[in-house]
Amino acid sequence: MTAHMDRIAVRAGQPLSGTIRVAGATKNSGLKLMAAALLAPGKSVLRNVPPVADLDVMIEVMRAIGAPTEWTGPDELTIDASGELTPEAPYELVSKMRASINVLGPLLARCGEARVAMPGGDNIGSRKLDMHFRGLEQMGVEIEVRHGFIEARHNALGGARVVLEFPSVGATENLLTAAVLAKGRTVIENAAREPEITDLSDTLTRMGADITGAGTSTIEIEGVRDLVAVESEIMGDRIEAGTFLMACGIAGGDITLEGIRIEHLEMVVLKLEEMGMRVSPTPDGLWARSEGRLRSVDIATLPFPGFATDYMPLVVALLATCEGTAIVTENVFDSRFSFLDELNRMGADIRNEGRHAVIRGRARLSGAPVRALDVRAGAALVLAGLAADGETIVHEPHHVYRGYVDLVGKLRSVGADVRYLPD
Ligand code: UD1
Repeated sequence: MTAHMDRIAVRAGQPLSGTIRVAGATKNSGLKLMAAALLAPGKSVLRNVPPVADLDVMIEVMRAIGAPTEWTGPDELTIDASGELTPEAPYELVSKMRASINVLGPLLARCGEARVAMPGGDNIGSRKLDMHFRGLEQMGVEIEVRHGFIEARHNALGGARVVLEFPSVGATENLLTAAVLAKGRTVIENAAREPEITDLSDTLTRMGADITGAGTSTIEIEGVRDLVAVESEIMGDRIEAGTFLMACGIAGGDITLEGIRIEHLEMVVLKLEEMGMRVSPTPDGLWARSEGRLRSVDIATLPFPGFATDYMPLVVALLATCEGTAIVTENVFDSRFSFLDELNRMGADIRNEGRHAVIRGRARLSGAPVRALDVRAGAALVLAGLAADGETIVHEPHHVYRGYVDLVGKLRSVGADVRYLPD
């Protein structure tokens, strides 16, 4: 982050209009493909990887492990995992970004052992690793957590039938990336079905893995002896796309999003249509129009293909400006509602009862100084500012930069009154 990006200032203005190219899903897909590159002794190339802040941390993790990772073009990374790896991910890095836990599966598969600091990441409720551990143990891994580190090793990684208690994205990814080089067949039941899992599985398959069922609840993996490095292009970021859709819902107008697959946003589109927005597919993405005030609808977050939890803060910002009352239920994370206080500081009328938020829509919010608490909550405050009188100043926007490259510039490009402010 540079000094001139220390705060974000937003004002309500004209309806949005124009086209936005959606970035690659660096945070939710690219980081996982980087970890998977550790499986193949060779040079892997990843394209369509915009440099969000979390990526810098992952590049450091890869370097610490002995897989030099360099920018080899705009939005293109080359990871060299040809040499011998040091299967250790240090605390200073892992504590900054939870997705570093994704190196656990690949390191166990390639090196037979791994020592990974217990992760940090967004402050959105307790995020346990018990399903990762239980699944890996069933595959023959011994795991101990000592002095803040996960210490894992095995003599032989073997296929197993693993039933996940909940379709965890991270657990599915770690088990998948361990199983591709295990001896025998692994079956993951109640696997996560998110598009990012399919993206990972497609890349692993091109590396030589034998996987069926990715994108469904049952993934079957027949272990192979080795994998080769490949070139991949990562999928468009469905959460970034959803962010612009909600922005259009709040500010009104019509926008076209390129570089995204509408089927990845199916539930969001259904809900926005129910609220009164018009959305239709285009050859490379979608087009959306919002006129007048939208209607409130109830929303419950669920694993894919349900309404993703990462859209929740964004849709709450939209509902805060809709006509009527909505109940939003968060089913994926324990405590993801701390940001409601910030929205209420902007004049929103939201009450939180356990896993539910009751949102009474207001035609106009009131610009205020507010604080970004995590990446999506921070983006939600920027969006809320598009329907607020006066100026909204979002402090601590570095949380936003963890998952978005130039959210401000992209919103400006469709006519929003948003800018960076120096301290
Ligand atoms: C990923 C995404 C995150 C998204 C989430 C759910 C990345 C970098 N992050 O996070 O943006 O919000 O999927 O779509 O891709 N759980 C356990 N035990 C476990 C694992 C998970 O109890 O072993 C719980 C978590 O505490 C949470 C829920 O399961 O309540 C979902 O977690 P999970 O799907 O694993 O999310 P992440 O992979 O961490």
